[in-house]
Amino acid sequence: MCGIFGMIRQSPFSSNELLQGLKRLEYRGYDSFGFASNTGELTKHIGSISDFIDKINQSEATTGISHTRWATHGGVTLQNSHPHSDCNERFFVVHNGIIENYEELKNELLSRGHVFKSQTDTEVIPHFIEEHVKSGLSIEDAIKMFIKISKGTFAVLLMEKNKNIIYAMKRDSPLVLGLMKDGFAIASDIYAFSNITNRVIFFDDNEYAIINQNDFGIYDSYGKQIKKDFMTFSWNKEENLGNYEHYMIKEIIEEPVAIERLINSLNNEQHDTVEKISSLIKIRKVLFVACGTAYHASLLGTSFLRFAGINADAVIASEYQNYMADKNTCVIAVSQSGETMDVIKALQAARASSAVICSIVNVPHSTIERMSSLSINIKAGQEICVASTKVFTGQAAAILYLSGAKIVTLQKLLDSVIKQKDVIKKISEDLCKARDIYVLGKSEGYALAREIALKIKEISYIHAEGMMAGELKHGTIALIEPGVPVISIIFNNNEDMISSTKETEARGADIFAITNKPYPGKWNFVIDSEDKKLFFIAAGTVGQLIAYYTAKALGRPIDKPRNLAKSVTVK
Ligand code: M6R
Repeated sequence: MCGIFGMIRQSPFSSNELLQGLKRLEYRGYDSFGFASNTGELTKHIGSISDFIDKINQSEATTGISHTRWATHGGVTLQNSHPHSDCNERFFVVHNGIIENYEELKNELLSRGHVFKSQTDTEVIPHFIEEHVKSGLSIEDAIKMFIKISKGTFAVLLMEKNKNIIYAMKRDSPLVLGLMKDGFAIASDIYAFSNITNRVIFFDDNEYAIINQNDFGIYDSYGKQIKKDFMTFSWNKEENLGNYEHYMIKEIIEEPVAIERLINSLNNEQHDTVEKISSLIKIRKVLFVACGTAYHASLLGTSFLRFAGINADAVIASEYQNYMADKNTCVIAVSQSGETMDVIKALQAARASSAVICSIVNVPHSTIERMSSLSINIKAGQEICVASTKVFTGQAAAILYLSGAKIVTLQKLLDSVIKQKDVIKKISEDLCKARDIYVLGKSEGYALAREIALKIKEISYIHAEGMMAGELKHGTIALIEPGVPVISIIFNNNEDMISSTKETEARGADIFAITNKPYPGKWNFVIDSEDKKLFFIAAGTVGQLIAYYTAKALGRPIDKPRNLAKSVTVK
């Protein structure tokens, strides 16, 4: 994960300007951050940029690189924060990705007398460059050498003390160059500088660049210069918190409007894409690849497609190696960020086996969108809270639309759920006292059970398990004790769901039913819908509100839960 951002300009810019860009990448991780500039400044802090940006001493520079960290190798300490440097503090490096053979490289460098200050994989990069420059290579040749012998993923910015040059290199992790009036910005994604410029060049794998205040060159790993044209992009309006306490509740409340926008777009500007994907999936097997919440939307989506007679399956992207795709498979990546590394890796494998690649993403111009032959944008607007809400609802609705179903009344249904949020708030005051929560569903409801449990876990830190209701009696029911909350998702008094729910009730569980016909448990939330598919999408919104109010009652940092990042860009 991690975000990197650099600027090189003809006239000086302040450290605040650099950090404002970095702050826009904070969704990639917020364990610590740091920056270095050509004036010799090196600053690091534990915690998120937002908490420090106004306290940082202002300095001016013409070249700077910066980094916001989600820890992979080495704990959350100042030593492990980026930028990292070599023994003589001549080279400074920020890195997103994982150098998989770092131990081997590190041992080699240690044997040559290098002294390491951190436990990170990244620190091998400045020492490697130092070592090879010492032995007579140019910095550029040392970079080429690094690309050749390193294994793993990286987007790297490197600068030399007191010099106005940024070196950059990329493999798998995203990297994009932006053209400014008086120089260049370079970052993990365009959002870092989308308020400054909309002219960009995306790097491809194993490319490196040398950028000075006036010019730049991009090269392949053999040093051959590559001609790349700038492309321009448009960007959605930026979100702010307004009068809301958290982005999460703002984003849940936005769902009806986001769904209206999505339906309009699918009917109009995205109509051709929808038609093309619909034709493809009628004659091919569909395999959704996704992670986390996007996987749960995909799982729900497989039920929608199967109901329409389309052969569909969903796989968690990091387990893709267990699946076989071929030219008769349409792999549909579902991703909010469009940058999730597990999904990107699965798509690379799918591409190698000649599968057709499509996607459903929220962030435009993302890597996954660019890897796809056809891509639907769900138009949810920026989602800032780490826990995905309005995007889940949009992903599920987009797949339902692809199945040919009508979704025009979804907006109204979501509105009616949100209007009753105080009912959910009240019950969450009860739920927040639980140590464990079980969420039961069947068929479409199983996807929802998993999603609601994930939402509860990630923001309230209460242990929650989303289960197939019928599977409970095969083991997990041993954990049901008097007073344990069970959230049961019951559509049209489904008999199997009612039996499983009763079985937990018989052991003293407190039943919280999400249903369309009242269930005589401790608490009901009735979704007023006879449409099974829309009911299950709306049940997701109920679950999001349950998670939100439970976490709020516990005083959790809802928008930035511990240990998480919005965009998971490492394997
Ligand atoms: O950006 P993506 O949709 O590809 O992200 C996938 C998951 O990392 C993401 O859905 C994660 O599970 C969220 N924190 C869930 O709220």
